[in-house]
Amino acid sequence: MQPTINISPATRSHIDLEEKYGAHNYHPLPVVLQKGEGVFVWDVDGKRYYDFLSGYSAVNQGHCHPRIIAALTEQAGKLTLTSRAFHSDLLGEYEKYITEYFGYDKVLPMNTGVEAVETALKLARHWGYRVKGIQDQKAKIIVCSQNFHGRTTGVISFSSDPTATRDFGPFIPGYEMIPFNDLVSLEKALQDKHVCGFLFEPIQGEAGVVVPDEGYYKGIRTLCDEYKVLMMADEIQTGLARTGKLLACDHEGIRPDILILGKALSGGTLPVSAVLADDEVMMTIRPGEHGSTYGGNPLACAVATASLEVIRDERLAEHALEMGLLFRDGLEKLHSPYISIIRGRGLLNAIVINHSNTDAAWDLCLSLKENGLLAKPTHGDKIRFAPPLVITKEQIGECLGIIEKSLTILT
Ligand SMILES: Cc1ncc(COP(=O)(O)O)c(C=O)c1O
Repeated sequence: MQPTINISPATRSHIDLEEKYGAHNYHPLPVVLQKGEGVFVWDVDGKRYYDFLSGYSAVNQGHCHPRIIAALTEQAGKLTLTSRAFHSDLLGEYEKYITEYFGYDKVLPMNTGVEAVETALKLARHWGYRVKGIQDQKAKIIVCSQNFHGRTTGVISFSSDPTATRDFGPFIPGYEMIPFNDLVSLEKALQDKHVCGFLFEPIQGEAGVVVPDEGYYKGIRTLCDEYKVLMMADEIQTGLARTGKLLACDHEGIRPDILILGKALSGGTLPVSAVLADDEVMMTIRPGEHGSTYGGNPLACAVATASLEVIRDERLAEHALEMGLLFRDGLEKLHSPYISIIRGRGLLNAIVINHSNTDAAWDLCLSLKENGLLAKPTHGDKIRFAPPLVITKEQIGECLGIIEKSLTILT
């Protein structure tokens, strides 16, 4: 059955403007949002929805969290940007706070997630040449197939997704791709003495929330230690309580050498990202070798500190773990013939749709939207369910009801 989509004149006019004046590099659901609070967003017609994407896990603390907004507005009236040509009264305090929070010697602040990934790649190469003693121009970084680390030409140089790479070459050399969740291939790759780092997502988010086997992170840690290679965890989507622990690597008690954070570091207010590492890695960077005009700006420092405080004070990791179990259990109990796989950890979850119609996942998202829940398909047949971590037990129950009702569209 085709879902009936209600598009109001107000919605239509906003969408038309975007289509006429904006690049067509996204394919959004036909909903135009105007307001957000906690787990909810409202469209231009005043209709309320559960947000089950959370800005791709940037809004872990909930939309417009009062403490984060207070920090943002207070600092916005004082000082927003100094550039790193000068010091600010917030940068050092923030750096102390975030390094102690995660247990690293130093942080390098950036803005978007992909910039933090680029920073980590540069740091790993620096460490490879300046500490490990790799021959100039030979450093190699191992990555996983189906990865998603962002959109710069540097980062898409090691993407296996043709949509991300087609007609964007030539690409940057120095990467080798191995399958995700495959320690045998990793060990083989690490035997090359030119390898300086292994970059991975603890759970592959964009690939459809692919959770590796128990023991994967421990295995990576052991191999990286054995072959003197940096373990580089991209926790931009999985970190900051999303999977039911502060970091996804915490599920196995593993500490990566380079930790990459973004998204929820600002609770969805500004692009704020960070790379954390110990001195052996971080001190390979010298003045002038890397930077960003906005990286570490006072507004970002204030917002990131408040965002981390909220995660700790509201015990969002513990809550996400509990709500995630409840949610996946509820999905299982729907016994839907159209859901072939339910997977995830904490509140980073996905279902794989089983249907003869290749547009079924999109149609289901339209139906969910009509019923008051926003989610987006990824890679055709998968739908990610990642609400803000402040969602309550009762709200989880209500959302399962919306999902059950919406699935009838596929009959
Ligand atoms: C694991 C991971 N790394 C990097 C990025 C890129 O972050 P940004 O879009 O802020 O550049 C994303 C974004 O979805 C991500 O999920």
